[in-house]
Amino acid sequence: MTITFIGHGYVGLVTASVFADFGNCVWVVGHTPKKIERLKKGDPIIYEPGLQELLNKNLKAGRIKFTLDYKKAVPSSDIVFIAVGTPPKADGEADLSAVLKVAEEIGRHLRKGFTVVSCKSTVPVGTNKQVESIIQKVKPSFAKFAVASCPEFLREGTGIYDTLNADRVVIGSFSKEAVNLLLELHKPINGKRIITDLVTAELIKYTSNAMLATKISFANLISFYCEKTGADVETVLDAVGLDKRIGRIFMDSGVGYGGSCLPKDVKALINIGSKLSIDTALLNSVELVNAQSRMNLLSKILKNVKTKKITIWGLSFKPNTDDIREAPSLYLIRELLNNGYTLNVYDSAALENIKKVFGGKLKYFTNPYAAVKDSSALVILTEWNEFKQIDLLKVKKLMKNPMIFDGRNIYSLVFMKKTGFIYFSTGRITV
Ligand code: UGA
Repeated sequence: MTITFIGHGYVGLVTASVFADFGNCVWVVGHTPKKIERLKKGDPIIYEPGLQELLNKNLKAGRIKFTLDYKKAVPSSDIVFIAVGTPPKADGEADLSAVLKVAEEIGRHLRKGFTVVSCKSTVPVGTNKQVESIIQKVKPSFAKFAVASCPEFLREGTGIYDTLNADRVVIGSFSKEAVNLLLELHKPINGKRIITDLVTAELIKYTSNAMLATKISFANLISFYCEKTGADVETVLDAVGLDKRIGRIFMDSGVGYGGSCLPKDVKALINIGSKLSIDTALLNSVELVNAQSRMNLLSKILKNVKTKKITIWGLSFKPNTDDIREAPSLYLIRELLNNGYTLNVYDSAALENIKKVFGGKLKYFTNPYAAVKDSSALVILTEWNEFKQIDLLKVKKLMKNPMIFDGRNIYSLVFMKKTGFIYFSTGRITV
C-alpha cells in the first residue's frame, strides 16, 4: 500500500516508520524545510528509543520518503493520515487550525479513485465530520474519499513497541471501503479491532487519556491521605491494585502527570463537556489534584531547604524521552527560581530543551554526580533507569547536605534509611 502521513511528531514519525517497515511505501509531509532535510538524512529530530535505527533502515530501503509537497505524496496514496498537533488554546479547547488547514491541502490533491483520509491526531468529537466537509468543498470532482477516525494510543518513550503491540485498533467510519483498507493496513499489528462510527472513535481516545489521568490523580490524592496519617502509599496501591477490577498499572503517585497528551486531553474533554452542558466536576478535580501534587513537593522543599543551592535530576515529563511539554520540572524550576534558589540540572536527553526555556538561569550538567556537587538538596522529578541504582554514597559525599526529595518514589525506605540521607518521597514517611 502507499500511504501518507501529514506531520512527523511522535505519532506521525513512529507510525510512519513502523508501516514502512511492514513493506508499505510511506510518504511523510512536513512544512518546515530544515526539518524535512534532517529527516531525509535519517535524523528523527525527536528522541524516541529505536526510532533512528528504524527510520534509517527504511530510508535505505526506499520505503519512507519525506517531502514538503502534497502533490508528490497525496495523489499516489490509498490512505492519508493526519498526524499534526492539536495544542490547547487558553480555554482548553483543542486548537484545530493545523488539522483543518491540512484537510484542505489533502482535499485539493486527492487523486482519481478512492482515498481514505484518517485522523491520527486527537481531535474533539465532530472534527472528522468537519474534515469531511472541508475536503468535500475543495476536492476535484473526480476524486472519491471517505474519512475515518483511527486514534493512536502509543506512549512516548515506548512508541515503537506500543504501535506493534497495540491493545486495540480503533477504526471509526461510515464507509465499509475505508474500514476494509484500514483493517488491511493494520493486519500485522496485534490487538482487538473495534469498528465503530466517527464520534465514538473520537470519544474513545479522550476517554482513554482522561481515565489514565484520573487513575494518576486518584493515586496522588490517596498519597496526601498517607502523608497526613503515616500510611504507606505503595502498600496501599499495591494492595488495592491486586483487585483485578482496579489493577496496579498506571497508578503511581508522584509529582503528577505531564506531557503533550494527558494535560491537553483532560482540558479538551472539560471544554467539550461545558459546551454540551455536562457537569465536568470530576475532570476539574483530576486537574486540580495534578496541580496540588506539584505544589505538595514544592512546599516540602521550601520548608526544608534553607541554603539556596539545589540539584534537579530528571527534566523530561517521563523517562526515555527528551520531551518537556507540561513537564513537572518546568513548574518546579520556575517556582524555585522565584524563591531565590540556585539550580543545577541534569537529564540525559532533555537538557537542550530545558536550555531553550531557561537559558542562563540554570547551571546545566551532563553528569549526574557533577551536578550534585556542593548542593543542599537533590530533587528527582523523572524516574530514569540510571537513577535507580546510582551510587548514592558517592552522591552523599559530593553534596553539602544529604537530602533527597524524590518525586517518583524511586527508592525503598529501608534502603534510604541505611544510606543516611534525609529522604522525602510521596505518600510515605520521611526517613
Ligand atoms: C499518553 C497515553 O498513555 C497514550 O496511550 C496516548 O497515546 C498518548 O498519551 C497520546 O495521547 O498521544 P504519553 O503522554 O506518552 O502517553 O505518556 P504516559 O506514559 O501516559 O505518561 C503521562 C504522564 O503521566 C507522565 O508525566 C508520567 O510520568 C505520568 N504518570 C504515569 C504518573 O504520574 N503515574 C503513573 O502511574 C503513570
